[in-house]
Amino acid sequence: MPITPFREKTILLGVSGSIAAYKAADLASKLAQGGARVHAILTKAATQFISPLTFQSVSGQPAYTDADLWGAQAHVLHIGLAQDADLFIIAPATANTLAKLAHGFADDLLALTALALEHGDDASPLLIAPAMDAGMYSHPSTQANIATLRARGAQFVGPETGHLASGLTARGRMSEPATILGRARRLLARGGPLSGRHVVVTAGPTQEPLDPVRYLTNRSSGRQGYALAQAALDSGAEVTLISGPTTLAPPEGARLLSVRSADEMSAAVLEHAPAADVLLMAAAVADFRPAQTANQKIKKTGQAFTLELTATPDILNTLKRQAKRPRVTVGFAAETQDLLTNARAKLEAKGLDLIVANNVSAADAGFAVATNRVAILHRDGQIEELPLMSKAEVATEIIKRIIAMLENPT
Ligand code: CTP
Repeated sequence: MPITPFREKTILLGVSGSIAAYKAADLASKLAQGGARVHAILTKAATQFISPLTFQSVSGQPAYTDADLWGAQAHVLHIGLAQDADLFIIAPATANTLAKLAHGFADDLLALTALALEHGDDASPLLIAPAMDAGMYSHPSTQANIATLRARGAQFVGPETGHLASGLTARGRMSEPATILGRARRLLARGGPLSGRHVVVTAGPTQEPLDPVRYLTNRSSGRQGYALAQAALDSGAEVTLISGPTTLAPPEGARLLSVRSADEMSAAVLEHAPAADVLLMAAAVADFRPAQTANQKIKKTGQAFTLELTATPDILNTLKRQAKRPRVTVGFAAETQDLLTNARAKLEAKGLDLIVANNVSAADAGFAVATNRVAILHRDGQIEELPLMSKAEVATEIIKRIIAMLENPT
């Protein structure tokens, strides 16, 4: 079962009257697809931009408006909604809604429900995504309201600088649904089994320059490493993602360190991993680099060209010799033959706690595909062969084993 922070969660989505309300429907849809029960509450102004039916349709749950304030269930509706919520997202939050929340107004269902939300340390988090014109956002009233809400523990995401409805390009644009989703995910992971732990993940290929326009690299896409970073974040860890060049967006909440060559990756790992609790070395680090990097583009001569390569340092081997090391170190073995024998040899040679082995010559596993079929080898000789799974599911399985190892050190 993947660690999906939205599964079985009840999320209130307050929508106030901004053109960004149309993006809130996408947010509701993505939350629902993640397994959350999404109850939308629309202000009267929001209904000018978007219909409650839109939210109902994408979430499969009722969407509420002020008309429900006066229905048969009205006396308990806002209390019930607030009590059931694991998270209250207000997106978009207009200047008016921020003002109401900051001052405790309760004159519509959204504000009333926000007021009924528990407060204090154990309270369900309130995540606010403001959207308004730049001048309204920078206005001292709005800034004071934001400061008040922050001081009470509300979290803010955005607004971003970008195109505004007024035609201006300035700060006030609501964050994209993917960003809000990432922050929501982070808030729901608080107190998870890896909270207080620092996990370093390496991902992607490295590029070894030959001249200013050419490099040697490999087919790693970084997907498995990024999925590991996300799964660690979902368990509440603080995550440093050391990534070679990829086309992937880093998971929200990870500290991204972008590197290019094996040498740069080595320097970053040796700086950050020793003090970490866990190192997940999923990067496909080049084993060789050109002996010389030409300053100018190498010209063709019409003749054969021989390239001399030198070995790059093995990062895990270097780390193994350090006095200070992470509590749990996990390596990945990319093999095209003798999978388990080669993986076992690497686990021992590199002093690992676990090695995740995959046959990178299979069409449905390994590099640049969304699925993976791995075997997990433990230090004590145990081998677990997992079926074909998504890379997110593989990541979850690995994180589960790490949690167990940290909880029951041998
Ligand atoms: N690794 C490393 N430093 C390198 C090369 C690899 O730390 N210079 C790490 C990888 O990140 C991975 C593990 O070592 O976690 C195994 O990598 P893999 O490429 O499978 O094996 P190699 O050690 O490079 O051996 P070979 O290429 O001979 O299979």
